[in-house]
Amino acid sequence: MAQPVVFVTRRIPEAGLAPIRVACQVRLWEGNLPAPREVVRCEIAGCDGLVCLLSDTIDADVIAAGDRLRVISQYAVGVDNIDLAAATARGIPVGHTPGVLTEATADLAFALLMAAARRLLPGYENVRAGEWHTWEPLGFLGADVWGATLGVVGLGRIGTAMARRGRGFGMRVLYYSRHRSHLEAELGLEYAALGELLERSDFVSLHVPLTPATDRLIDEAALRRMKPTAVLVNTARGAVVDTAALLRALREEWIAAAALDVTDPEPLPADHPLLEQPNCLVVPHIGSATVSTRERMARMTAENLLAGLQAQRLPYTVNPEVYHG
Ligand code: DGY
Repeated sequence: MAQPVVFVTRRIPEAGLAPIRVACQVRLWEGNLPAPREVVRCEIAGCDGLVCLLSDTIDADVIAAGDRLRVISQYAVGVDNIDLAAATARGIPVGHTPGVLTEATADLAFALLMAAARRLLPGYENVRAGEWHTWEPLGFLGADVWGATLGVVGLGRIGTAMARRGRGFGMRVLYYSRHRSHLEAELGLEYAALGELLERSDFVSLHVPLTPATDRLIDEAALRRMKPTAVLVNTARGAVVDTAALLRALREEWIAAAALDVTDPEPLPADHPLLEQPNCLVVPHIGSATVSTRERMARMTAENLLAGLQAQRLPYTVNPEVYHG
């Protein structure tokens, strides 16, 4: 029997590619940058499966071009780049990689929080520039993390892992989420409405998926509610924050600093004004970038893909409704 044909939009770890290669005829985009949308649209024609990344736009048009498409397997937990309604309307299950990147992403969020609080980057730049002449009684003064208030926006898996870290570091932790958490008492968390959380927190960390409801959730009004000493950490999606408003907030010191793993636009061009802000730290969307996490993500991506190709239920799907009718 002919093997199913699969388009893989970028090289992923061999832990995932190898099992796919055994079972499928693989068309792999070898570029170091994402395949242009038109290339994906052409390649997907005649394919039974698609492995894609958060940097690919898998809209209704692209899905429609996949005349034989039976499964989409995303190498990420977030799927805001995929038109889920279009996939569901075609009965195509969409797989993703929840759970395995929780701790790695929370580690990075906490690293950003600490780096911004204790001004690691200005300190490092000072040393590199040969300007470390003496111990500075008044230099590089940052903010205490211990005893400070952390506001976690979105208490899903990653938000909860961030909250645990905050508690471990002696912080008071507030959270805002669509639903009250059953872990409140166990973890010592306090629920707050978003506005109250923004007003009371010394550090605000974002952990919501990007949806129409969270698009620019942190807008000018939200930023103006934060303390002038507060730090905003974003490891969720860039568009959860209104970039123009954030730029003004940093320039005009409505808040003290931002530490971002994700941006809008993404990637952030090297001449973007955010990068001229000394109170803004940006890293290139590396929340899940540990060797073992990326390997686990790759394995899950393969498991989802192969299950879909065998007409089995995907182990991790975002549109289970495709199985209900
Ligand atoms: C995801 O999986 O959605 C992260 O943003 C990247 O690993």
